[in-house]
Amino acid sequence: MWLAMCRTSHVALLVLLLSVPSVFGGIWPIPRSLSNGKSFLQLAPDFDFTVDVDCASDDLYAAVNRTTEAIQTQLIERLTVGRGSIDQDAISAAPVLCSVVLVLDDGATVRPIAEEAVQPLGERLESYSLYVPEDGSEAVITADSTLGLLRGLTSFEQLWYTLGNVTYTNVAPVSIENDAPAYPYRGFMLDTAR
Ligand SMILES: *[C@@H]1O[C@H](CO)[C@@H](O)[C@H](O)[C@H]1NC(C)=O
Ligand SMILES: *[C@@H]1O[C@H](CO)[C@@H](O)[C@H](O)[C@H]1NC(C)=O
Repeated sequence: MWLAMCRTSHVALLVLLLSVPSVFGGIWPIPRSLSNGKSFLQLAPDFDFTVDVDCASDDLYAAVNRTTEAIQTQLIERLTVGRGSIDQDAISAAPVLCSVVLVLDDGATVRPIAEEAVQPLGERLESYSLYVPEDGSEAVITADSTLGLLRGLTSFEQLWYTLGNVTYTNVAPVSIENDAPAYPYRGFMLDTAR
């Protein structure tokens, strides 16, 4: 009897776990608001970032280059049996994302990332929003500062997997709204050894 109850509760727990909507857990730091779907979306091998920022600094372009290079070289396969090959057909048939645009919100001051990153704690603007549609139309990263755009690029770069020569995500569409650090201080070390 006890065993039977125990089994029943295990089954109930399993059903509960399976029915929880799947939220993509591949982005670090974990965004404070993330919603995603379950569609496949390819990333074109020659996809392009458009920096829609007047007088953007060199370090913003360097950040864009870094993200482009990371996506093209990290080649991470899905951690699943077959490395995602079971989805080969769905991935090949998926829409292709060719372009991502970076936009600063109206009224934002354009400064180099290096300057934004040393603003006083509590005044640093790091918030960004990211939207990747599932139909292959342009993805958008918006922010109040170039530092926010850098944070958005860092999240964008972690969405992608590789199968053969195809880069894809299995969680389109992806929407992150106003993600920002919860606290101005994120690390603290007190070395009492000496
Ligand atoms: C970014 O990459 C392009 C193309 O490879 C290059 O022309 C440009 O100088 C790079 N920009 C920076 C700031 O690294
Ligand atoms: C990817 O590989 C397949 C076969 O392995 C080939 O037909 C296709 O052209 C390749 N695509 C690209 C973009 O290189």
